Amino acid sequence: MINYYDALFTNDEGLDAYYKYVSDNIVGHSIIELACGTGDILSRLNQKYDVVGIDLDETMIATTLTKFPDLRGKVSEGDFLEYTDTKRYDNCVCIGDSLNYILNKEDLMKFVEVSTQLSDHIILDCHHPFRLNEFRNDYYEEGSTDAFDYAYQIEVEGEHLVHVINFLDGTFDAIYQWVFNPEILINAYKEKGYNVKVMTDFDKDGITDEGEKVRLIATKESI
Ligand SMILES: C[S@@+](CC[C@H](N)C(=O)[O-])C[C@H]1O[C@@H](n2cnc3c(N)ncnc32)[C@H](O)[C@@H]1O
Repeated sequence: MINYYDALFTNDEGLDAYYKYVSDNIVGHSIIELACGTGDILSRLNQKYDVVGIDLDETMIATTLTKFPDLRGKVSEGDFLEYTDTKRYDNCVCIGDSLNYILNKEDLMKFVEVSTQLSDHIILDCHHPFRLNEFRNDYYEEGSTDAFDYAYQIEVEGEHLVHVINFLDGTFDAIYQWVFNPEILINAYKEKGYNVKVMTDFDKDGITDEGEKVRLIATKESI
């Protein structure tokens, strides 16, 4: 299948905002990014920090290496529910609603275990629960890029968002995301001795009534 991710979901304004969020909250020098996608944020971080990135999808890693050959040797295929490393990093980053690809609480707790094994300072985001209201009446968009035409639909099924990207040539992709209550994640990090700073979108403290993303920075209490 075509790697449609950059054409449909990446833009400079979004990248700038995400990069600012991450770089404003970095401590120390080393960073592991879990679910690094097509490498845009990792590549920017690579200019200043020692970085490592993993992603489950080999086509995302291949696209990363085509776009950013200097990341060769720093990115690899890997599952953030199973990943282990011989070293700990100053920062563990997982952004771009990648956490919402986790579909149940047991796996969310696995992620918490993996990330706390990797770092004392964890920079995250996830969908705001309001997303389920926002898309309650479905979302539909048609468009075309230089490489393909598409119809993109988002439906709500219970606590899940179902994204369907139809390429209008007989092929399609479907992505399921669980819009979990962020308190589950916040409480799990607190139970592991982490302080958790919580924001809605990039500028509001705590979890507000409406929003797109909840941002969490979990820091081990002793540091
Ligand atoms: C919405 S994209 C975000 C990518 C990137 N972080 C960004 O902000 O552009 C979600 C990414 O999570 C990856 N992913 C999903 N489940 C994963 C898992 N279990 N382990 C590692 N990566 C995973 C997908 O392959 C995809 O690249």
